[in-house]
Amino acid sequence: MKAAAVFPNTKSLGVVNDFPAPKLEDASSVKLRVLSVGVCGTDREIASFDYGLPPAGYDYLVLGHETVGEVVEVGPQVQNLKPGDLAIPMVRRPCNHPDCVACRAGRQDFCYTGDYKERGIKEMHGFMTELIVDEAVYMNPVPHEIRDVAVLVEPLTIAMKGLIQAMEIQKRLPWGRASLEDKAPHRTLRAVVLGAGPVGLLGAMAIRHAGIDVWVYSREREPNVSADIAKKIGANYICSQEKSVAEMASQVGNIDLVYEATGASQLAFEVIEALGTNGLFILTGVPGRHGPIGIDTAQIMRNLVLKNQCVLGTVNAGKDAFEQAVSNLTGFHSKWPDAVSALITGRFPLDRFADPIENQTGIKNIIQIAQ
Ligand code: BGC
Ligand code: ZN
Repeated sequence: MKAAAVFPNTKSLGVVNDFPAPKLEDASSVKLRVLSVGVCGTDREIASFDYGLPPAGYDYLVLGHETVGEVVEVGPQVQNLKPGDLAIPMVRRPCNHPDCVACRAGRQDFCYTGDYKERGIKEMHGFMTELIVDEAVYMNPVPHEIRDVAVLVEPLTIAMKGLIQAMEIQKRLPWGRASLEDKAPHRTLRAVVLGAGPVGLLGAMAIRHAGIDVWVYSREREPNVSADIAKKIGANYICSQEKSVAEMASQVGNIDLVYEATGASQLAFEVIEALGTNGLFILTGVPGRHGPIGIDTAQIMRNLVLKNQCVLGTVNAGKDAFEQAVSNLTGFHSKWPDAVSALITGRFPLDRFADPIENQTGIKNIIQIAQ
C-alpha cells in the first residue's frame, strides 16, 4: 500500500510505496478503507521535525490523525459496526502503567504518565494510507449523510471536550445551564472565539449550536472566507488588526466564555485580562517555543479572584466528545450545509500530501485517498 510519511533522520517527507497492508488479527478489530485525512497544525509541526515520534523499529512515521473510513471487515466480536458503515477512529491509545487511573478508565485523553501513544503523532503510524485496522472500542460510527465532511469530526472533538468541561464547571452558577442540550431560557451567554481556522470555526459552530452568542476575533481583514462562514452561522466577526482587545471586549459586553484556538500565547493572555465576571477561558492551542513576554500578573490574578474566573487547558478527546462531535456535526450539517462544506478548502491526492503541509492555504485541507 501507499502511505504518506515523515522521515526524521533525513528530515524529509515521502510516500512509502510498500507499506504493509494491516491484517484483521483480533476478534474485536475493524478494518477501514480510508476515505480522507485532514491536515492540521500538528502535522505541520511533525513535518518540521519539532514534534512526533515514529513507532519502535521504524525510521519513518505515517502521518494523519483526522480521518473517516468505510468499514470493509470486522472481527467476530464486533457489534457496533458492519461492512459499509462509516467510522472515525480515535487518536490516542492508553499508556500501560497499571496505576494510571485515567488510562485504566479508558480516559487516555487525561493520561497522567505521558506514555500514551497517538496514531500519526506519537509512536504509532497514522491514517494517511489505504487501509487501517484498529480495535472497535476506538471506532466511532458516523451517519452516511455527513460522509463528505465527516473528516471534520476529530478537530471538532477538541471543541466538544472543552465544552463538555465548560458545562460541568459552569454548573457552579445556580442559574447556569444543566448541559449543552439544555436550551431552557437563561441569561444570554456571550462567547469569544479566538482564531478562525478549522478548530476555531468548528468551536464557533458548536457554541452557536448550543444557543450562545458568538464573536469570532481573528487577524484577517474582511472580506474573507472565515468571516463569511462566521456570519452564515449567526456569529459576529471582529478583525484584531482593526479592533484592540479592549475595543472588542467593550463591543461584546460581559465575556462569559473564551474559546482559544490560535496557539498565540500573547494574544491569549491579553484576552484573559478581558474575561468577564464568572467567565471561563478555554485554551486549546499549543504555542511554538519562543521567549518570555511581559504580562500584568497582578491584574490577571485580581480578576481571577474578584470575578470568579476559571482558566482551563484541554487536549485530545474521550469517547463522549467523539459521540457529541458526530451528533453536533450532523446537526450543523443540516442547519448550515454551506458553512460546513466551506470549511474544506482543498483536496489533494496522496502523492501530493506534502503540498498542504508545506504550504498552508485556505481553512481545512484534506488528502482524498478514496471516494
Ligand atoms: C490532535 C489531538 C492530539 C494533539 C496533541 C492534535 O492535533 O487533534 O488528538 O492529542 O494534537 O498531540
Ligand atoms: Zn489535528
